Amino acid sequence: MERLQKVIAESGYTSRRKAEELMLAGKVKVNGQVVTELGTKVSDSDTIEIDNKILEKESKEYYIMNKPRGVITSTSDDKERKVVTDLIPTEARIYPVGRLDYDTTGVLLLTNDGEFANILMQPKNGIEKVYLAKLEGVIKGEQINKLKKGVELDHVKVVPSRVKLKKVNQEGNSCMVEITIHEGKNHQVKRMFEAVGFHVEKLKRERIGVFTTEGLKSGEYRKLTPKEVAIVYSLKK
Ligand code: URA
Repeated sequence: MERLQKVIAESGYTSRRKAEELMLAGKVKVNGQVVTELGTKVSDSDTIEIDNKILEKESKEYYIMNKPRGVITSTSDDKERKVVTDLIPTEARIYPVGRLDYDTTGVLLLTNDGEFANILMQPKNGIEKVYLAKLEGVIKGEQINKLKKGVELDHVKVVPSRVKLKKVNQEGNSCMVEITIHEGKNHQVKRMFEAVGFHVEKLKRERIGVFTTEGLKSGEYRKLTPKEVAIVYSLKK
């Protein structure tokens, strides 16, 4: 069940605020009854009418992208920079699930299905996000252990489920570390490494749950299969 104004907004008909105005003006019906109560919730099986016309719901679309560097994870940008939705030609009002920084690359999912996005983003569902970070300097066992015990971000302790040193470069001035987390806080991986004294030079998200960039070059995308969508729904707790 979702709020009526949200369902109207997600159909692409109008914004959530305009939908609320239409409701208050008595122009919205659910199953033939005028609804003016802004908290009203509806389900997929309810018929919504606006000005006596049935609201067509946008069909759900699901994509996976290998996000390139230099693109904003958003649907629009006030400085006219390129955004991830510019890379996928569709009429559907898709948006990115969570955020990758401008300079971060790797797995990004996009959809117009709010429930699907919520399942992936809620830490309680335990969906792993695996990142490969190139660090300036070489991390030691002691610092990895500190990270593994958890660091405080936004007054909350975050504990990675795995941290693994993968490689030290030949000159011995940088290294590659794989880190697995469940949350999606702003700049989380960069801030976690900063908390133990390391600057992240490069960051790639290698995996979210079962999704990897396998078969996708930088900037490429594909639709998810119905089976892949069902896997995400099966992870809801
Ligand atoms: N953590 C970060 O610091 N940046 C990202 O883009 C993703 C996770």
